[in-house]
Amino acid sequence: MTPRSGVCAWPTEVDTHIDSDLPPEGYRLEITPAGITLTAADQAGRTHAQQTLRQLAGPDAFRAAAIGTRELTIPCGVIEDHPRFRWRGCLLDVARNFRTKAEVLRFIDLLSAHKLNVLHLHLTDDQGWRIEVPAFPKLTEISSWRTGSMVGRHDGPERDGRPHGGFYTTDDLREIVAYAAERSITVVPEIDVPGHARAAIAAYPELGPEPESPWEVWTSWGVSTSLLKPTPDTLDFLRQVFDHVLTIFPSPVIGVGGDEVPGATPAHGRLVADLATYLATQGRRAFGWDEVLDTDALPPMVIGAWRDQAAATRAATAGHDVVLCPEDHFYLDHRQSDHPDEPIPVGYLRTLEDVYRYQPTLDDPHVIGIQAQLWSEHFDSVRRVDYAAFPRLCAVAELAWSPPTHDYTEFLPRLRDHHLPRLDALGVEYRPLDGPHPWQTRPDVPATAHRPNQLPVG
Ligand code: ACM
Repeated sequence: MTPRSGVCAWPTEVDTHIDSDLPPEGYRLEITPAGITLTAADQAGRTHAQQTLRQLAGPDAFRAAAIGTRELTIPCGVIEDHPRFRWRGCLLDVARNFRTKAEVLRFIDLLSAHKLNVLHLHLTDDQGWRIEVPAFPKLTEISSWRTGSMVGRHDGPERDGRPHGGFYTTDDLREIVAYAAERSITVVPEIDVPGHARAAIAAYPELGPEPESPWEVWTSWGVSTSLLKPTPDTLDFLRQVFDHVLTIFPSPVIGVGGDEVPGATPAHGRLVADLATYLATQGRRAFGWDEVLDTDALPPMVIGAWRDQAAATRAATAGHDVVLCPEDHFYLDHRQSDHPDEPIPVGYLRTLEDVYRYQPTLDDPHVIGIQAQLWSEHFDSVRRVDYAAFPRLCAVAELAWSPPTHDYTEFLPRLRDHHLPRLDALGVEYRPLDGPHPWQTRPDVPATAHRPNQLPVG
């Protein structure tokens, strides 16, 4: 920002123009005591500029209604800004633990406040199927709920005995997509195949491997070895499911999963490749996790590189677009400190500072962005999602938006003094910088260390 003297009252009329010579999603704000001129490259640039004005007006601008205790003002100056990456994503896993429609809409507001522009909605997994597909009613009758869940992470037989479930109707999802689009966010749906599919197999056992009697929606966390049977009938089922998905989600990119497939055969790989090719015939590009690179004959895809840097390089070399989703930095279900009070401390230790200090080592035009992951085995409430996501997602958002040089010692006081008050005003139950509130701890759910820097993850 180039500061000028004076302030402008907020809210105020904003004189808005489009200038397509600005970089995509970019904007220029000229703020004077007399008013504000907003010039945006496109609709997204306009959205981001409005968020910037909210940031400048102070925390109360983030409340749901004006509370009238003081007038809000914005400092005068000129700001020109645009994002570093065109894919600035966050995955929300609504399959393991369902999030209500209202919670998803609120989450979209939080993404927008951070200028993130992709909500990757992980809609299906072993533990639940969350999208209504009219041609296959049992996906909602049977696959959308389970009889109980593992508490924390353990390998014993105990379950909580509490049914868990939920699904979105077609119209719910259309509403989510429209709400996101109004905020310049693309919802990328994911139907995970051929692994992570036990919930679907529970409803339609003919899709699965040899009969397990009876199949049920999985009540365990972890990686299941039960994969979809790679047959023409399964491909036909998937085509019908994706045909429905395409009527809901206008996203140019559609997720097909492909991750964690122990025992997969070349035929399983071909199933994913055939599905990706089918999506290409429908004018869409498939998003797959980096395991899919083991399969030949893939059409151009977007690869979520999660396991290591080598996977990202391999994907880029093969000509795919790449979204960097490194497990060792951007899996926000992983523990945020080594403190004994850290709730359900699974996975790698990844502090706010670790996340902020992440540097993509692959400098290649195929790298279109970065994405945080909120896998939800251990998020049994939206309060737990808030705690895991924030403030680390603020760090991811800044890496995704701003130029590559970042200074944590500059970020930290800015976050503490300016941004956390905004999250307070938004009602986000983030992790305080010095550790959890007592009510955020989970002494009832201990974790067991397997390796020094890694605890088991779901
Ligand atoms: C993944 O973590 N299985 C993508």
